[in-house]
Amino acid sequence: MENALVIGGTGMLRGVVLKLLEDSCQVFVIARHRDALHALQEEAGAAVERLTVMAMDYHDLERLGRWIAHIQLMHGPLDRVIAWVHDDAAAVLRVVDHEVYLYRRSPWNLFHVVGSRAAVDPPQLPTLSENCRYHQVILGFIQESGSSRWLTHQEIVSGVYDAVKHPADFTVVGTVEPYENRP
Ligand SMILES: NC(=O)c1ccc[n+]([C@@H]2O[C@H](COP(=O)([O-])OP(=O)(O)OC[C@H]3O[C@@H](n4cnc5c(N)ncnc54)[C@H](OP(=O)(O)O)[C@@H]3O)[C@@H](O)[C@H]2O)c1
Repeated sequence: MENALVIGGTGMLRGVVLKLLEDSCQVFVIARHRDALHALQEEAGAAVERLTVMAMDYHDLERLGRWIAHIQLMHGPLDRVIAWVHDDAAAVLRVVDHEVYLYRRSPWNLFHVVGSRAAVDPPQLPTLSENCRYHQVILGFIQESGSSRWLTHQEIVSGVYDAVKHPADFTVVGTVEPYENRP
C-alpha cells in the first residue's frame, strides 16, 4: 500500500485526498482546523481506516518533523508528498525531505503545488536529497470566450491528481500564458 501525505488537504486538495483513498493509498493529511479534518474523515466513508489526519500548523517545523517521523515509524516510509504551502514553503519542504530521507532508501515523489506566480517568479527551494523526485504543479488559469478565470476546485483536483499519476518535472494546470491575461 502506498503512503501519501497531503499538506493542506482540507481545502482545494480535498478531492485529491479522496481520489488517493479510492486508489487504496494510506493517506495522511495536515491542516490546522479540526472541524475540516473531521469533515474529511466523514467524507472518506469506509476508507477512513486508511486516513490519518493531524491538526497542526506546518510552520511549527519541529512538530511537523516529529509527526512525519512518527507516521513513518508506524506505517512505513512515505512514497508521495503533495504539498500546498503558503509562506516559506522551502522550510517546510526541507523538513519533509529530511524526515523521508531518514526513513527510506529509494526514490520518492514530492509534488509541490504552487500558484500561477511561480511561472514568472519561481519559488525558493531547499537543496533536496538525492532520492527526492521534485515535481512542480503550477495552478494557472483558464481563458475562454475572450476572458479568463481562475481554476475551479474540480479542475484543480483533476489537474493535481493527473500530475501525481503522470509525474513530470513541471505541470501546468490550465495555462499561465500570456501571464498578463490572468484574471
Ligand atoms: N490558480 C488558481 O486557480 C488558484 C490557485 C490557488 C488557489 N485558488 C483558489 O483559492 C482558494 C483559496 O486558496 P487557499 O490558499 O486558501 O487554499 P485551500 O486549499 O482552499 O486552503 C489551504 C489548505 O491548507 C491548509 N493550511 C493553510 N495554512 C496552513 C498552516 N499554516 N498549517 C497547516 N495547514 C494549513 C488549510 O487548512 P487550515 O486552514 O485548516 O489550516 C487548507 O487545508 C482555493 O480554494 C482555490 O479555489 C485558485
